[in-house]
Amino acid sequence: MENLVELKNVKKAFRSADGAPRTVLEGVDFTLSDGEIVALLGKSGSGKSTLLRIVAGLIPADAGKVEYRGRPIRGPLSGVAMVFQSFALFPWLTVQQNVELGLEAQGVAPAARRERADAMLDLIGLSGFGSALPRELSGGMRQRVGIARALVTHPDVLLMDEAFSALDVLTGETLRGDILDLWDGKRIPTRGILIVSHNIEEAVMMADRIIIFSSDPGRVRHEIRIDLPRPRNADAPEVRALIDEVYGLMTMRPAATPATARAAAIDYRVPDTDVGRMESVLELLAGAPYDGRADLPQLSEDTELPDEELFPTYEALGLLGLAHVERGDIALTSLGRRYVQADQALRQALFGQQLLKNVPLAARIRRQLEDEPGGALPEDPFIDLLEDTLEADQAKRMLEVAIEWGRYGELYEYDYHTGRLKLPGTGNAKE
Ligand SMILES: Nc1ncnc2c1ncn2[C@@H]1O[C@H](COP(=O)(O)OP(=O)(O)O)[C@@H](O)[C@H]1O
Ligand SMILES: [Mg+2]
Repeated sequence: MENLVELKNVKKAFRSADGAPRTVLEGVDFTLSDGEIVALLGKSGSGKSTLLRIVAGLIPADAGKVEYRGRPIRGPLSGVAMVFQSFALFPWLTVQQNVELGLEAQGVAPAARRERADAMLDLIGLSGFGSALPRELSGGMRQRVGIARALVTHPDVLLMDEAFSALDVLTGETLRGDILDLWDGKRIPTRGILIVSHNIEEAVMMADRIIIFSSDPGRVRHEIRIDLPRPRNADAPEVRALIDEVYGLMTMRPAATPATARAAAIDYRVPDTDVGRMESVLELLAGAPYDGRADLPQLSEDTELPDEELFPTYEALGLLGLAHVERGDIALTSLGRRYVQADQALRQALFGQQLLKNVPLAARIRRQLEDEPGGALPEDPFIDLLEDTLEADQAKRMLEVAIEWGRYGELYEYDYHTGRLKLPGTGNAKE
């Protein structure tokens, strides 16, 4: 099989607000072969859009090989088209004019442009809407325009960046079904599709291969080949099993680093979630029909929270020893069971105990406050410490989370006005 797109050892760094370079992609190897749909999954901020923009020729890589059909990509290519989450339509142009735009850029003559745009509008279910303005259309219809504008150029490679995630679930499903029909029915000349998504089911329903990205910096962590024929039935056992598998891989903590090197590291991941979310997941999990053990995708659907909020929540529950996440399942630990049954005071005590044991940042704050004669300290030194390894906004956010958790666990108190931390019950709350 011929490679349409090939990346080897690609690296990309951006300069952050304070001028320090931050590596977003490192050592990324990736190929899109002729005839393939590949889905790229990863947490938000893991560099998926950056990778897509490099392939689209919108930004250059800092290092590594980036090729389209064996030639280096040095800028936008006429064979590669992209669909954006935000639709990116021109509001003052009609649907027809928006679709023709891509062809104009390629120097196609007006009559041919009109003809091809008409044909594409028919194909994508927009016939009769050519003279409408984007604002007159629903979100789903607007994204059809975005897709038509990409497909009208007869791209060899189609890139889709979260193209369905701004749409409601049903509209998204319909649209992705339509794209698959065009692809599987060979009604478009496109030879390869790369979709970025954070929707696991979408990836499993569409892709021949799923690539899971890890964050900081983004690298390819797992690759899963899917040989099931399309159209796939979302309820079929093989499909459910794959969704489970991908869920399991995505919620897995990165391989443990040697205890000596990292165990006490103060920036050791504090997943960005709050106590409220953790407790609602625990309670849902403890109740019927789960009784302490659930299929992650199913539980996720029941919580009605987006994956982006759920993944850190599952991770936090695992980190605190309240639940155990493995291969697409989540189960309460015996401590988790006790926790759910406990009254408020006991819950907080258990939470505090688990924080001290498992979250080095919280333990460190507590210890330093204990060492301090007045039992109080400003928060700034902790932010400084975290900034040794994290970007300023991440450092700030991680401390915020650790403070929220620690207050709940009654390890320390915090005064928003003064930015000071103190041991609980040491008087002088206001200084
Ligand atoms: N032009 C840019 N300048 C500085 N930082 C950027 C730029 N583009 C992306 N980033 C940063 O790179 C990281 C990855 O971003 P992105 O590729 O959009 O992730 P994803 O699509 O996986 O959510 C983020 O931390 C983001 O803030
Ligand atoms: Mg993105």
